[in-house]
Amino acid sequence: MWSSRLAFILAASGSAVGLGNIWKFPYITGENGGGAFVIVYLLCIAMIGIPIMIAEVMIGRRGGRSPINTMRILASRDGLSKRWGWLGWMGIIASFMILSFYSVIGGWAISYVGHAASSTFSGADTETIGALFGGLLGDPSTLLLWHSIFMVAVIMIVARGIRSGLEKAVNVLMPLLFLLLLVMVGYALASGDFAQGFAFLFQPDFSKLSTEGVLTALGHAFFTLSLGMGVMMAYGSFLPKKVSVVKTAVTVSIVDTVVALLAGLAIFPLVFANGLEPGAGPGLIFQTLPLAFGQMTGGVLFGTLFFGLLVVAALTSAISLLEPVVEWLEEQKGISRTVGALIGGLSIWVLGIATVLSFNEWADFHPLAFIPVFEGKTVFDLLDYFTANLMMPLGGMLIAIFAGWFMNKQAVENELDIGNGALFKSFMFVLRFVTPAGVAVVFVYNLL
Ligand code: PFF
Ligand code: NA
Repeated sequence: MWSSRLAFILAASGSAVGLGNIWKFPYITGENGGGAFVIVYLLCIAMIGIPIMIAEVMIGRRGGRSPINTMRILASRDGLSKRWGWLGWMGIIASFMILSFYSVIGGWAISYVGHAASSTFSGADTETIGALFGGLLGDPSTLLLWHSIFMVAVIMIVARGIRSGLEKAVNVLMPLLFLLLLVMVGYALASGDFAQGFAFLFQPDFSKLSTEGVLTALGHAFFTLSLGMGVMMAYGSFLPKKVSVVKTAVTVSIVDTVVALLAGLAIFPLVFANGLEPGAGPGLIFQTLPLAFGQMTGGVLFGTLFFGLLVVAALTSAISLLEPVVEWLEEQKGISRTVGALIGGLSIWVLGIATVLSFNEWADFHPLAFIPVFEGKTVFDLLDYFTANLMMPLGGMLIAIFAGWFMNKQAVENELDIGNGALFKSFMFVLRFVTPAGVAVVFVYNLL
């Protein structure tokens, strides 16, 4: 059991806060035109993400096992189909797929720690910084090396079960990351085009938002909160009974959202001040933040710290992705934790090679191009699309349906501990109708 509410919040935010906030949120916001996308994203967090986070943590606490077994136990206890166990399975497959590309991007961050520390950014202009990033992407062997280093770190942490030590370090490191983000926002305020960056993020222009943009916003709400795949369920199983599920889930969601918005506020003023493209894609933070580190006083220190902390944030998310895979291998195949971490991690590493190649040799390889929605998508794009835009919202919708329609009502009431008045009733309404319908509507629109 987590020693306290704070310990759970730190672990759950460790999973939530990661590359999704600092790398993915800014670049997909840039690609989808800014303000309108951000509003839809925030709506998805509030109306869909938070209710599902509550439901997932609650299911986990009641079941008290790994996700597959929790779903089986709760289903059989309430006389429901054993098929609910599938939900846990889908989560494991999604973890596997996400970690394969997450590790490659984590590798980019590691390589940038080195660049920052050796003052590569000092005084560099947009072209130099752009060429540096382009050079990294164009070089599969270097990408593979960093991807391997990241994966080895994740495997070692999970295999040796030194998570508690890591979580203690994270107590200090995550607030530090938060502080550094504030420094970067301060720099953007002083030296960037803050007005334009702010307007880009918060002034909605709905004509710039496509149907796929709405799906991306929805998918990102799941991705950034680590929802719909059993990770929060697994963490919930350790939560003491006396702690409020609602308050903790809301806290984690708010922390995650604030970090993403701060990252946006740090990056977009630099994008506009330096004449860069907001829609530059996955390289956005790697092409903007180094400009700031190259110009500001203390940039070598701040830059090294920033990318170092980004790596730590990515690692805490990555272990929450490998953990379920290893647990599953332990339970089903009866192998030890170490061997499980090795087998799971190595297979994920192999799949990661496809992402490495997506940025160079396979940049023009679009495996599912014959299906219109997948036109122009590389293997990396497809892994991202299938997990964030399809599997996670689907898993989350099923979790909401399970908690809203199937789970024992009295148990839900007891777990939530917010009485059975208006608050409880409106929560149940959201869980039963708003959340599943929201996901379904976005799905159907995109299929059409
Ligand atoms: N939430 C993480 C991020 O924003 O970087 C990514 C992630 C971690 C997604 C764990 C899913 C997950 F199960
Ligand atoms: Na996140």
